[in-house]
Parts: sequence; C-alpha cells; structure tokens
Amino acid sequence: MIPKGSFITFEGIDGSGKSTQARKLAEHLQAQGRDVILTREPGGSEGAEEIRALVLQGEPDRWSAETEILLFTAARRDHLERTILPAIEAGKVVICDRFADSTRMYQGLSRGDLRGTVDQLHKLMIGREPDMTILIDMDSNTGLSRALSRQGVEERFETFGADLQAQMRAGFLSLAEEFKERFVVINGARSIDEVSVDVCQTVDDHLAKQ
Ligand code: ADP
Ligand code: TYD
Repeated sequence: MIPKGSFITFEGIDGSGKSTQARKLAEHLQAQGRDVILTREPGGSEGAEEIRALVLQGEPDRWSAETEILLFTAARRDHLERTILPAIEAGKVVICDRFADSTRMYQGLSRGDLRGTVDQLHKLMIGREPDMTILIDMDSNTGLSRALSRQGVEERFETFGADLQAQMRAGFLSLAEEFKERFVVINGARSIDEVSVDVCQTVDDHLAKQ
C-alpha cells in the first residue's frame, strides 16, 4: 500500500532559520523511515533552478514587478509538475523551503500592492496550497543580521534593508491568520534545537492525523 503523501512548506523572513529547520525536519522524518523529499523555491527542478539564477542574481531592478511575478510563478509551475506532484503521488513527504506564500509577500507587497495579480496568476497556473505551512517567526533585525552574515551572491531582498524585513514579518503573520487552517506559527528566536523540537512535534501530529 502506498502511504499518503504530504506537502509541507516553510515560510518566514530571510535568515529566520527556514533552511536549517527544513533540513532537521527531513532528518527527523527519515529516521522514522518516511520517504522524504527536501526541496526549495525558487528552484527545486532543473528549469526552476535556472530561473532562480535569473531572479536572485544581478541588479535588484533587473525585472519589473510584473515580470518578476511571472518568473517566480514559471519556476513554481515547473517545480510543481516535475518534482512536487510526482513525489506526493508516490506517497512521499515533500518539505519545501518557501512556496507561494513568499510570492504573496515579496512580489505582492514589496513593490506596491500586487497581491491581487499574484493571487490571480496562482489560481490560473498553480492552484495548489500546502497541507501544512510552518511560519518561523522572529524579529526582523535578528533575521536580517543572520541573513547578511551569509554573504552569498544571492541577496535579492536582503539588500532592501530593515524596513522591508519588518513589513514582511508583519505580512507573514497576517497571512497566517488568513490561512489559519494550514499555518502554524513557531517562535524562531530560540536555539536551533529548541525550534526543531516544536517543528518536529507539530509535523508528527499533522502526519498522525492524516
Ligand atoms: P533562512 O533559510 O530562513 O534564510 P537559515 O536556516 O539559512 O535561514 O539560517 C540563517 C543563518 O542563521 C545561518 O547561518 C544559520 O546557521 C543561522 N541560524 C539558523 N537558525 C538559528 C538559530 N535558531 N539560532 C542561531 N542561528 C541560527
Ligand atoms: P531563500 O533562498 O529562501 O532565501 P533566504 O534563505 O534568505 O530566506 O529565498 C531567496 C529570496 O527569494 C528571498 O529573499 C525571498 C525571495 N523570494 C521571492 O521574492 N519570491 C518567491 O516567490 C520566493 C519563493 C522567494
């Protein structure tokens, strides 16, 4: 019998610890014998990783706000078709570092109010929400300093500074209210292990109820 697959996403501001927690959750579930796929956005399939380089490197104003929405959504469509849906159908737990809620926030709020456009395109081209979304919440200055300490070539939104990070934090919290049925908010301003205990417990409870 094929077990029921599940689609779990991590959201939160840059530097909040999403990638760290997604990795620890994957290890936790694998240790239980679950078949797990750990993936990320933008990216997660060959074509989507190519689009990632287009949107996260180069000049910050390289794309218009609308073109950027199209590029993130194109990457998501490829990732969904080639990686996420086949894995869920095969009974795997898909853990994804960011998904459509990030587009609702970053493309929907950061350069004017484009949330309506993001939602329309999502409905038309994606039409799928996660089964559970874990919001790693923390104050925006801590997140920003952690993110900037990484110093990579990808720093699209980190360079926009503290105000945008604060706006994104508030936006994610209101998104958690809007989609109450799938969001769980976890306090990320603690040690990696303390946060991880909460994340793993929350997901264990969710999977046990499936
Ligand atoms: P995100 O994916 O949300 O941007 P990361 O998981 O990449 O965040 O973490 C950003 C940086 O902060 C990394 O250097 C990571 O090692 C560190 N970090 C993650 N979680 C914690 C934590 N709970 N306490 C202190 N540092 C952390
Ligand atoms: P990510 O690699 O998760 O960065 P971080 O580890 O710093 O959180 O995401 C890279 C950047 O892409 C991040 O600044 C948020 C942005 N992003 C969007 O603007 N829209 C999207 O739809 C997604 C998935 C990411």
